[in-house]
Amino acid sequence: MLPPSRRSFLKSASIAGAAVALPALQYSRVYGANSRLRIASVGTGGKGWSDLNGVAASPEVDVVGLCNIDSSKAHLGQAAEKYSAARTYADWRKLLDESKDIDGVMVSTPDFMHAPISLAAMQLGKHVFCQKPLTHTVFEARQMQLAAKKYKSVTQMCNQIQSHSAYRTAVNIVHTGLIGKVKEVHSWQSGSPSWPRHIPRPAGSDPVPASVDWDLWQGVAAERPYKAGMYHAFQWRGWQDYGTGQLGDFGCHILDPVFKSLKLGSPKKLTAQAPGLFPETWTDWATVHYTFPGTEYTVGDDLSVTWYDGVGVRPPREKLAGIPEGYKLPGAGSVLIGEKGTLVIPHVAMPKVFPEASFPADKVPVVEGVDHYTQWADACRGVGETTSHFDYAGPLTETVLLGTIGIRFPEQELEWNGEKMEITNFPQGQAYITKPYRKGWEPTWIA
Ligand SMILES: NC(=O)c1ccc[n+]([C@@H]2O[C@H](COP(=O)([O-])OP(=O)(O)OC[C@H]3O[C@@H](n4cnc5c(N)ncnc54)[C@H](O)[C@@H]3O)[C@@H](O)[C@H]2O)c1
Repeated sequence: MLPPSRRSFLKSASIAGAAVALPALQYSRVYGANSRLRIASVGTGGKGWSDLNGVAASPEVDVVGLCNIDSSKAHLGQAAEKYSAARTYADWRKLLDESKDIDGVMVSTPDFMHAPISLAAMQLGKHVFCQKPLTHTVFEARQMQLAAKKYKSVTQMCNQIQSHSAYRTAVNIVHTGLIGKVKEVHSWQSGSPSWPRHIPRPAGSDPVPASVDWDLWQGVAAERPYKAGMYHAFQWRGWQDYGTGQLGDFGCHILDPVFKSLKLGSPKKLTAQAPGLFPETWTDWATVHYTFPGTEYTVGDDLSVTWYDGVGVRPPREKLAGIPEGYKLPGAGSVLIGEKGTLVIPHVAMPKVFPEASFPADKVPVVEGVDHYTQWADACRGVGETTSHFDYAGPLTETVLLGTIGIRFPEQELEWNGEKMEITNFPQGQAYITKPYRKGWEPTWIA
């Protein structure tokens, strides 16, 4: 027997394709720049706290719903205190059941719950702001793209650095032809993650804190015993069931200016190097070599993009043509090697172009930043557009998550047919394009 909120949610979701979609289209027709936007936040702690405050900073936004599986001060408590007029929930399905007055839903939960919550919200006609990586699987990323289109949702993935002056300036450098067409890209993250990696599942279980609904936290994932400090909060990143490892955590940030500037889409193929995986956690390090079809901003038929993660890792210096010996590479970022110059995009600092003599800093045009959060709120109200809408964020996330499949199979080339969403040469890899969902929690997919 399903809990009541689940029953009523399924009832509404089952007609999502027909009747439920209609109200959204109706109100979007009458919705205008003078209207206020009513939002709900799911996952109000951790990054969700700054997401919520970022969107609520718009004077045109009213916060009407707050949801968190943890009622303690750091999670639901402080949000409920600050936005005291908002209804509060532990269960996002109940929030959606009672969402007639909600225009937009923000999803700031751990990665594995992004798609189930966002898809259900879009099926009810809501606009969606969702954390990065957009989803937990490639299939879910494609579903998010399809849903946004079908339900005409105004969407934004929260890879907020995209709107920072540093990344916008870097994209502009490529688009204005300053470094010429790009021949090769190297991107890396050398930081040391603080979450569990490369370990087996801990034995036993710990008492669940009174403030936490552990069943709701597990959501669509297979059930497992609660262990303090292992999953909730923040530590879930290292576990395959919940997170996407270092590439998943940072790829949608660091590869974003590469994607945006070069207008990349689906890769043709990829091969990873990584240590053997433990059954349930992600690795300590990985390198993923992607090959993309060339674009108007690249040289030749194919473009090579290589991702490196691991403590202290950097791309091999000999591959970084045009970067002087004495230049210290940033801890994370990208190098784009162009025909006329080499662009370094630190994560996060203003870009640098070499050779310095040809590109003095005062000759590189700076593009001002914009507000990634209120950009979504404004676009929902019909003012302007978002830049990390799911039509963009979906393919970016697919690429990042394909890399995480590669990490499962070191040295195995994976040939990718983006249109068919198929790894054409390696069925064991294809099996990870989607995943099993806990019984009773299966999302309603977009046909
Ligand atoms: N864009 C960025 O710079 C950035 C930075 C940090 C985290 N993130 C992303 O933000 C998301 C959250 O990461 P975090 O570090 O804040 O994690 P976290 O575990 O610290 O916080 C998640 C919050 O969501 C709540 N929550 C969990 N499951 C829920 C559910 N089913 N319903 C309602 N609430 C739920 C938790 O109680 C907690 O308050 C992740 O997707 C992560 O990748 C993005």
